[in-house]
Amino acid sequence: MDGKKMAGEKAAELVEDGMIVGLGTGSTVYYTIKKLGERVQSGLHITGVPTSRATEKLARECGIPIADLNDTAQMDVTIDGADEVDPSLNGIKGGGGALLFEKLVAKASKRNIWVVDSRKMVQQLGAFPLPVEVVPFGYKHLMKTFEREGLNPVLRMKEGRPYVTDGGHYIVDIKLKSPDIGAFGAWLDGYTGVVEHGLFLGICDLVVIGDGSKVYT
Ligand code: 5RP
Repeated sequence: MDGKKMAGEKAAELVEDGMIVGLGTGSTVYYTIKKLGERVQSGLHITGVPTSRATEKLARECGIPIADLNDTAQMDVTIDGADEVDPSLNGIKGGGGALLFEKLVAKASKRNIWVVDSRKMVQQLGAFPLPVEVVPFGYKHLMKTFEREGLNPVLRMKEGRPYVTDGGHYIVDIKLKSPDIGAFGAWLDGYTGVVEHGLFLGICDLVVIGDGSKVYT
């Protein structure tokens, strides 16, 4: 079985009756949401808080009751995918463009579980480009700054136009060059025009990994 499917479905088993569950975005957590939908049909009571329009649509199709983050004090657990995860469970997220809402939901959750196939596990983050969500107004100036810093910025495109996030922003994918990821994240956080970045540091509590033949944590 596909590693993503194995990990995604396994994580759905960790959800208990009555929980408020943050629902991540992407092709791995897709399997979690499908499985949770099946469990809901069999009597599980949960409320899902989606991290993207795509996830909200999927969750509704699966019959999972949905709540807005604004109406939810705290999620018991959020299950989400990741693009890279290091041995300290720091990660890069945002390959699917949902990093801002994903980080908002993750930070409002008691626990965060990531579901990945084993190829996402790395010794050091940075082979995957780091998504940075930026304000469209004046974004070219920000890109020039990133260029001057040697970060090889690339504006994410879709069908010949800049990709627009659910929050109405653009995404610039950059090279994560600094070995000090904490300092690099803080530098990005302080930059005017940057809305959020895909470095998720100290957020993940457990990673569920599927490698095609087994699933492990
Ligand atoms: C979306 C994300 C995804 O969780 C991440 O890109 C992993 O996606 P997939 O499970 O499809 O490989 O961060 O913004």
